[in-house]
Amino acid sequence: MKAIVVGSGGREHALAWALLRSPNIKEIVCIPGNGGTALLSGCRNISMALNEADGIAQCALVNDVAFVVIGPEQPLAEGLADALRSKGIKVFGPNRDGAQIEASKAWAKDLMAKANIPTAAAAVFTDAEDAIAYVQKQGAPIVAKADGLAAGKGVTVAMAVEEAIAAIESAFSGRFGAAGERVVIEEFLEGQEVSVLAVTDGQTIRPLLPAQDHKQIGEGDTGPNTGGMGAYAPTPLMPPELLNRVQKEILEPTLSALQSKGIDYRGVLYAGLIITPAGDPKVIEFNCRFGDPETQAVLPLLETPLDEIVLACCEQRLQDLPPFRWREAASACVVMAAEGYPGVYKKGLSIALNDAESEDTVVFHAGTQISEGTIKSTGGRVLGISAIAPNFQSALDIAYSAINKIDFPGSYYRRDIGHRINALQKSDTKSASVE
Ligand code: AMP
Ligand code: GLY
Repeated sequence: MKAIVVGSGGREHALAWALLRSPNIKEIVCIPGNGGTALLSGCRNISMALNEADGIAQCALVNDVAFVVIGPEQPLAEGLADALRSKGIKVFGPNRDGAQIEASKAWAKDLMAKANIPTAAAAVFTDAEDAIAYVQKQGAPIVAKADGLAAGKGVTVAMAVEEAIAAIESAFSGRFGAAGERVVIEEFLEGQEVSVLAVTDGQTIRPLLPAQDHKQIGEGDTGPNTGGMGAYAPTPLMPPELLNRVQKEILEPTLSALQSKGIDYRGVLYAGLIITPAGDPKVIEFNCRFGDPETQAVLPLLETPLDEIVLACCEQRLQDLPPFRWREAASACVVMAAEGYPGVYKKGLSIALNDAESEDTVVFHAGTQISEGTIKSTGGRVLGISAIAPNFQSALDIAYSAINKIDFPGSYYRRDIGHRINALQKSDTKSASVE
């Protein structure tokens, strides 16, 4: 069968790659794809804007594809899935109504409050004065979030009241356009973050392996937030018992809450969680799609053919699938970015992968294209090097030695991806020796 993957990031390259590992998949069409999907055997890029719903539908019908996977949140929030479904096309990704869970933080908060989902206490404001008064009363640390999609830039974790006030003023002065017309002020939660990407057919929901990403640009998790500088899975921070709690306390009640609103949600529900110092998982955000770069770390471990999971979700028969099979190994992905990212950075840098790829090492492209036979950078996050090994240390060593083989002048990557695992393992040893 053939399928379409919509998007152009590392996540979409990983989705196309994972689908093509299945014997059932003969061809993937990537719209618009990137340099990595252009080079991927069995994959073909078609250049089209993500809001060209009619063109994408036409492409799906002409190619007689079995399904369409929509990668990014923006086209989901704009109703691409609705448009395709209205033409009888099977889609993995929620309709516009379900995508609100990511596209409006206020909407998601309301859903969580009604369904008793553990999350940070929050209040929603439509004007700056009330929001500022609330922040002054609550004190810092506190978190200010623009309501809508703001390309990952709408959240300020304020350590001082003044910082929160500046964020509120900036949102209401139109920095994020309509996305900042409402602002959510949220209790600051302390703890480590875990990304649980769950797949659902609207009736049944099942988590994939839990992952962690490194959002900040600087080593030691410092500096401004990015789309994600690296990820690893399955994180030892979320052992199976904790994942079971997430299933019962968060994923299932959220799906029920969506159902009770009449929302038929088919695709990925991504729960961004904080594990509090008491060990309880709390939601800090929901996304309506696969995470990037978590997907590049999680999918290489998946042994169940991805198309079987996707089709089961599209056809509402997820409960009939046997438990997903995973490789018993550790997976890590290190992102190479253009120097200057997430600020101003150069594009058009030439890249040679040399022999960086091997059996358990894949180079996923994010911002690249092929120009006159050469890989050129087109974005801030450019490559994601994923490696699998029996343990995290080896997976990271393999990923970093692959990076050393790549010629990519003017690149930047963090050298400490996975450092939290070491800290965790050390603290495990400590608590074990205390016992
Ligand atoms: P979000 O887009 O909601 O995931 O927020 C971006 C980042 O801000 C998260 O990955 C967290 O690192 C941080 N963050 C968001 N909400 C909170 C919160 N309530 N407490 C602490 N940190 C938060
Ligand atoms: N890695 C964070 C995200 O996909 O939103």
